[in-house]
Amino acid sequence: MYYLNPSLKNLVRIFDQNERKGYLRLDLNENPGGLPQDFVKEVLAEVTPSMVAQYPETKHFSETLAEFLHTDIKHLCLVNGSSEGIRYIIQAFTSVHGRIVGVVPSYFMFQVYSEMYDREFIKVPYNEDLTMDVDNIIKEMTDDTQLLILLNPNNPMGNVYTEEEFEKLLRVAKEKQITLLVDEAYHYFYKGTFIKYALENAHVFITRTFSKLFSMAGCRLGYVVGWPEGVKMVQKLCTPHNTNAFAMMFAEKILQSPEILNALIDNFNEGRQYLLDSLDANGYAHKGEAGNFLFVKTKTDAPAIVSKMKADKKILIKSYPNVGNFGTCLRVTIGERKYMEQFMEALLELDQ
Ligand SMILES: Cc1ncc(COP(=O)(O)O)c(C=O)c1O
Repeated sequence: MYYLNPSLKNLVRIFDQNERKGYLRLDLNENPGGLPQDFVKEVLAEVTPSMVAQYPETKHFSETLAEFLHTDIKHLCLVNGSSEGIRYIIQAFTSVHGRIVGVVPSYFMFQVYSEMYDREFIKVPYNEDLTMDVDNIIKEMTDDTQLLILLNPNNPMGNVYTEEEFEKLLRVAKEKQITLLVDEAYHYFYKGTFIKYALENAHVFITRTFSKLFSMAGCRLGYVVGWPEGVKMVQKLCTPHNTNAFAMMFAEKILQSPEILNALIDNFNEGRQYLLDSLDANGYAHKGEAGNFLFVKTKTDAPAIVSKMKADKKILIKSYPNVGNFGTCLRVTIGERKYMEQFMEALLELDQ
């Protein structure tokens, strides 16, 4: 008998990413400049036929990563991009019709996975002034809630949680036996982290990625951090050999090259400062405390600017509707200064 999972029929996914070649891509929070060309060449020179031919080995890279994070491999599960880890946590720690609480707007895949697996996603909205009140989250942490998803910092809002706020949420999560997932995809743009809670508590997970500051979105690599038994459950859901050898090779070299990591951070900071100063100088309101992206309130119609940027300037950005008192506004990825100059020049020309 033919069968089709009914949850998939109405599920909306966007598969248009492959038409972005030739554009300055400031729409998906990648690093537009990428890793230094010399570094890429140097790493690729070490690729051997057997490395291409064989299934990837994970032990060595897991140990390197564990050392970098000052932990042990029993706390880590490598995944094919952190979006894969998020999916497995939802699959393992929530049931059909299970209640998942998350803030909105946020990374859309939380809602996509909830729908895909027939979970109930409860949305906690931001305040009008774009702040997030943790008591609003706590109100939704009912006895039958199975998973709370937080992002620190949140994409696209860029806000962060203080240690005090996080501990308050953790106390309620423990009391009500709610698994807590903190997505730290943008961790390296912002130093605060709740990783110690994932290492010291059961039912707390952190997900991280090599796609953002590490500039490896094309390679697909991320990891889940948690308590050993929880990590084992996530591992059980992984496809065999889920992380590819090239991704681990690049990631290992970056972890072992502090100068590469520092240069990525310096370039980012310079680009961010330039963008903030230029927006201020030109009277633009903006929002985004942390992360490699900013919301910008435009003077004219934001979706029209997105279209014109694409058609006339070959620059990709996004617009978001209903962003509190910002209304419909732009979200732009922050990259090196030269890309921010390109963006600002286009914005000043088109937004009038
Ligand atoms: C908040 C957040 N989490 C996770 C991801 C997915 O990252 P990955 O490339 O590791 O799957 C993204 C990607 O944009 C993101 O914004």
